Amino acid sequence: MSAKILVIHGPNLNLLGTREPEVYGPVTLEEINRQLQAYAAEKSVEVRTFQSNHEGAIIDAIHQAVDWADGVVINPGAYTHYSCAIRDAIAAVGLPTVEVHLSNVYAREGFRHLSVIAPVCLGQIAGFGWHSYVLGLEALLMKLGAFA
Ligand code: DQA
Repeated sequence: MSAKILVIHGPNLNLLGTREPEVYGPVTLEEINRQLQAYAAEKSVEVRTFQSNHEGAIIDAIHQAVDWADGVVINPGAYTHYSCAIRDAIAAVGLPTVEVHLSNVYAREGFRHLSVIAPVCLGQIAGFGWHSYVLGLEALLMKLGAFA
C-alpha cells in the first residue's frame, strides 16, 4: 500500500508569489502544490495539500489526518514560533511529521530562530525555497521506508 501524506501550508502562504518575493521567491502556492503532486506521482504516493490562515483549522486537519495519513509535512508559517497548540496536536496524534520553511529562518530576525514545533517533528528543512517542501516530503518518505 502506498504512503499517504498530508502537506499543510500555514498562514499567509496563500499569498506566495506576491508576498515578499525577495524572501519567499516568486513561486505561487498553486505551483508548489503542482510540484508536490508531480513528485508524488513519480514516487507513487498520495499527497493531499491544505492551506489555512487559522490555527484551529490547522489543528483540525492534523487531528483528521490520523484517520488516513501516514505522515505530515508542515510549514506552520509564523505559528512555528509560538503555537504550542499546533505542537501539541502533532504530539497528540503521533504522526511522523517534517517541518519545512521556504526561507532560512536562522538567517533572519531573532524571533524566527525558535521553533516550538521542531521538537515534536522528525526534523526540519529550511532555506531552499519551494524545494524545501519536496525535500521535506522526500525525507518523510525515507523515514517511512516508502521508497520502492
Ligand atoms: C516561513 C518562515 C516564518 O518565519 C514566516 O512567518 C512564514 C514563512 C517560511 O516558510 O520561510 O510565514 O515559515
